[in-house]
Amino acid sequence: MRGVKCITFVLWINILNIITGESNFNLELTPKNIMIHVGEDVELICRMNDCPVNVTFMWRAALDKFVGGDVKSNQTVSQLLIRNFSDKHSDIVMCKATCQQDKKEKQKMSKIVVFSFPQDPVLPAIKSLIANQEQKLICTVPNIYPLERFRIEWLRGDKTLHTEVPDVLDSDHVQNYSSVFTYTPSVDDLGKNISCKVTLDLNGQERSTTAKYGPGTITVSSNNTLVKLGKHLEVTCHADGNPQPTISWWKLGKAEPELQSQNHKLIINNASWSQAGWYWCNASNDMGSQQTGIKVTVVGPPNIPKILLSYKEEPKEGENISIFCSSDGGPAQLKLYRQSQSAATGSLNESAVLLNISSVQITDAGIYICEAKNDFGIERSTINITVKAQHSISTKPDLPVAIVPAVGSVSLLTAAGLLIRHCRKKAKSDPSDIILS
Ligand SMILES: *[C@@H]1O[C@H](CO)[C@@H](O)[C@H](O)[C@H]1NC(C)=O
Ligand SMILES: *[C@@H]1O[C@H](CO)[C@@H](O)[C@H](O)[C@H]1NC(C)=O
Ligand SMILES: *[C@@H]1O[C@H](CO)[C@@H](O)[C@H](O)[C@H]1NC(C)=O
Ligand SMILES: *[C@@H]1O[C@H](CO)[C@@H](O)[C@H](O)[C@H]1NC(C)=O
Ligand SMILES: *[C@@H]1O[C@H](CO)[C@@H](O)[C@H](O)[C@H]1NC(C)=O
Ligand SMILES: *[C@@H]1O[C@H](CO)[C@@H](O)[C@H](O)[C@H]1NC(C)=O
Ligand SMILES: *[C@@H]1O[C@H](CO)[C@@H](O)[C@H](O)[C@H]1NC(C)=O
Ligand SMILES: *[C@@H]1O[C@H](CO)[C@@H](O)[C@H](O)[C@H]1NC(C)=O
Ligand SMILES: *[C@@H]1O[C@H](CO)[C@@H](O)[C@H](O)[C@H]1NC(C)=O
Ligand SMILES: *[C@@H]1O[C@H](CO)[C@@H](O)[C@H](O)[C@H]1NC(C)=O
Ligand SMILES: *[C@@H]1O[C@H](CO)[C@@H](O)[C@H](O)[C@H]1NC(C)=O
Ligand SMILES: *[C@@H]1O[C@H](CO)[C@@H](O)[C@H](O)[C@H]1NC(C)=O
Repeated sequence: MRGVKCITFVLWINILNIITGESNFNLELTPKNIMIHVGEDVELICRMNDCPVNVTFMWRAALDKFVGGDVKSNQTVSQLLIRNFSDKHSDIVMCKATCQQDKKEKQKMSKIVVFSFPQDPVLPAIKSLIANQEQKLICTVPNIYPLERFRIEWLRGDKTLHTEVPDVLDSDHVQNYSSVFTYTPSVDDLGKNISCKVTLDLNGQERSTTAKYGPGTITVSSNNTLVKLGKHLEVTCHADGNPQPTISWWKLGKAEPELQSQNHKLIINNASWSQAGWYWCNASNDMGSQQTGIKVTVVGPPNIPKILLSYKEEPKEGENISIFCSSDGGPAQLKLYRQSQSAATGSLNESAVLLNISSVQITDAGIYICEAKNDFGIERSTINITVKAQHSISTKPDLPVAIVPAVGSVSLLTAAGLLIRHCRKKAKSDPSDIILS
């Protein structure tokens, strides 16, 4: 088609050269060369300056293409008005004028370049652009004419990713064009805008649209974060997107997530045990949102553990008691044991230890220690448990209250006490599952 047009044009120029010349000096056709957008109105004026009588005007088009329009003429001037110029109209319009006096015909022509170029390409919002993940992008440009002069370019920042020249089969009418581009974002391109730029190589007109895309790759300055008790921690979160995503940091807890910050930075000042846990960075814009999580670990010496006896008053001989040891600080190993004895621990969970003593004996009395220990320190709490003797036969008040058997030197008295206890237990057929000595 392009070839045909060119030939046509050259042909007309030749005709023009033959017909025109000095003799045509007084025939004027304005404007001579115009470029108009499809849908616009065109007004051409043909004026004969040196004919003393009436002039007959005639308007014609190249290759007899449709001219249409309204013609208004008087003795010397003819005006052609074409409303809503379309791709069907001719691109070369000729005015023929005959002066009634000498019957001499003169003609002039005007080249009208019609084009159609929309305001901006249409780039659908991209849900998210994730580094190294292939994505199909589409840029649609409606109502282009002539397509053969059209060019499309994909850009990331200033860098051209892809250029496309349509494969024109039929450029005779206004048409739509879509460019489908398979794109794999690279990490280097994060934060740069992606845009589709179209050019009509006719008058150098350019249009460009920047894609809106949802947060894709989301990054945090560090992932597994360790902070010492009382110290400072800062983690930044960044997400790629257009418009720039808004960032918020949330702490996950048992209840609703708690807002920590409304910007890129999560700041923990004077870290405390309760600040340990999972934090989420939420990046969002009009297109969507993305999240990523980090685990904040607070480290430091354990808090002083708590030790409690199930009894408020001192227990009586034969009663069941429980000693409860707990630590509410950071992670620590808990141990509950009787002073100077090997550890006897029962475990509930990481943060609490329970020791049950069924049918407590006077020999069970003494200092019990709850110890919390980790890599950063050790803390202890003690409780002095005294056991009240049952008024009856079983025990004498002068029996030792606290038995402290040192290894290899078990006193006779202790041995006797243990023997008594053992016998009594047998008699009651009440075996205890905890042996303290
Ligand atoms: C020129 O045109 C006018 C009006 O169209 C007409 O009245 C007049 O007779 C014409 N003159 C000649 C010489 O044809
Ligand atoms: C013919 O029309 C043009 C513009 O419409 C005007 O300027 C001119 O004076 C007119 N000529 C005559 C003779 O009416
Ligand atoms: C202009 O012409 C086109 C067809 O070429 C038509 O669809 C459109 O409605 C016209 N516009 C006006 C304002 O007449
Ligand atoms: C071209 O695009 C316009 C607007 O996007 C649409 O209305 C029209 O139907 C499309 N034309 C063709 C031929 O697909
Ligand atoms: C990306 O494009 C938007 C408009 O869509 C603009 O506001 C923003 O500044 C651009 N960002 C960059 C990094 O060029
Ligand atoms: C840090 O927190 C602890 C306990 O919450 C508090 O006692 C101490 O005063 C705080 N220190 C600073 C510098 O804020
Ligand atoms: C992230 O933030 C956006 C906007 O505030 C919100 O709509 C979305 O639900 C949030 N997502 C999460 C998982 O909190
Ligand atoms: C950080 O954690 C996210 C998941 O929360 C994971 O996808 C990513 O690979 C981690 N990065 C590093 C450097 O460990
Ligand atoms: C003490 O515990 C034993 C089992 O260990 C149980 O049989 C007994 O009933 C308990 N005594 C009291 C007073 O709870
Ligand atoms: C451990 O047990 C104690 C006491 O029953 C409880 O308060 C605490 O929540 C438990 N901790 C865990 C992690 O289950
Ligand atoms: C200790 O006794 C309590 C009830 O008093 C019981 O729930 C718990 O399982 C016992 N623990 C052990 C280690 O025997
Ligand atoms: C434990 O308490 C008993 C009685 O209240 C007391 O006699 C004993 O000295 C205490 N032991 C320690 C080590 O404080």
